[in-house]
Amino acid sequence: MRLLHNISQLATCRAEGGQGDIHAIPNAAMAWDNGVIKWVGSEKDLPAAYRGAERIDAGGRLVIPGLVDCHTHLAFAGWRAEEFEQRIRGRSYLEIARDGGGIMSTVRQTRAAAEADLLQRAAGFLQQMLALGVTTVECKSGYGLDPEAELKLLRVYRRLAKEQPVRLAPTFLGAHIVPPEFRDNRAGYVDLLVERMIPAVVQEELAVCCDVFVEESAFSVAEARRILRAGQDSGLAAKLHADQLTSGGGAELAAELGALSADHLEHISERGIEALAAKGVVAVSLPLAALYLGQSPMPARRLIEGGVALAVATDFNPGSAPSFHLPLALTLACTLQRMTPAEALKGATIYAARAVGLESEVGSLEPGKAADFALLDAPDVNHWLYQLCPNACVMTVINGIERWTAP
Ligand code: NIG
Ligand code: FE
Repeated sequence: MRLLHNISQLATCRAEGGQGDIHAIPNAAMAWDNGVIKWVGSEKDLPAAYRGAERIDAGGRLVIPGLVDCHTHLAFAGWRAEEFEQRIRGRSYLEIARDGGGIMSTVRQTRAAAEADLLQRAAGFLQQMLALGVTTVECKSGYGLDPEAELKLLRVYRRLAKEQPVRLAPTFLGAHIVPPEFRDNRAGYVDLLVERMIPAVVQEELAVCCDVFVEESAFSVAEARRILRAGQDSGLAAKLHADQLTSGGGAELAAELGALSADHLEHISERGIEALAAKGVVAVSLPLAALYLGQSPMPARRLIEGGVALAVATDFNPGSAPSFHLPLALTLACTLQRMTPAEALKGATIYAARAVGLESEVGSLEPGKAADFALLDAPDVNHWLYQLCPNACVMTVINGIERWTAP
């Protein structure tokens, strides 16, 4: 049994209440054993049963649940820094993609890459994410776009799940865009996804979710409905890239399908907001992508006021969001989307866990849940996201195992 005490503020991030209710406890302590939380409360109320536990002094600092990055494209080869400059000079994301850049540029490099190299690079990203306080990462395929290369990416995630500590939630995104070899036969690619790729992913148990990029330049609502239903019929929960570049009915489709989440939503309609709220679909805001593409971010206040639970994630990928800095995404959610630090934190903990179907295991600090948490060198949540100190995270714990990232 271990006991972390002298915590200035402990944000439990229990699900009850609204977006801003993080159920914070001042002057707190927390006990865990065998990777599972046993007790959380005010230090003065510490039950006798935990007084003999091995003690760790939190130094009067902040404790939060391990952060959950519920939307990343973690494994890919190469970068696209030249596109960053091109966009600054005025070319749009879609113009760059039409000329063979964008997602297809990464697909070409990823198809050519060895599994071992993809694995080593993604492991490096995860190590750096861990040092920021991130303990669970959703990771999509989607830079293979053929059976062999998509399975290669998902196998990288399966190996990473065994070989490094961060928890992974793998998502099949074979429907990222239609690859050029199917340009004149879109239906043929959708058939390939439904008839061969999804069954292969399920057979090898390589993913828990299935995602589709619903956009004029990617997949239509009708195509996405077919792909996501096929996924659901074989046990893969649905997620959508929806209403990112144009308003295309993606949020409404997420509600119709009872998806776990609808992500991006920069161009969500009023009807889309009502539909997500009615069906309890989590909306995932990706403010780094909006920032890098020079877009207005998702209208977070309208969604929160409309009763939608909002998660915040990085969208880490080599194009629209080349940063895996989840705390930075949270600060952007505060400054660009007028979310309070508490609202942003709930979006990267319990609501993010819900967006990947892991709400019963992680995302909040409560007895019975995994002992996944981060110790941050800040007095409280407001101060942490306000100052965004580069080395704020001093210790990350996953399954009760501590890793000190700073003295
Ligand atoms: O979530 N929107 C589609 N997919 C990614 C971008 C991928 C890329 O540009 O490589 C996104 O923004
Ligand atoms: Fe994405």
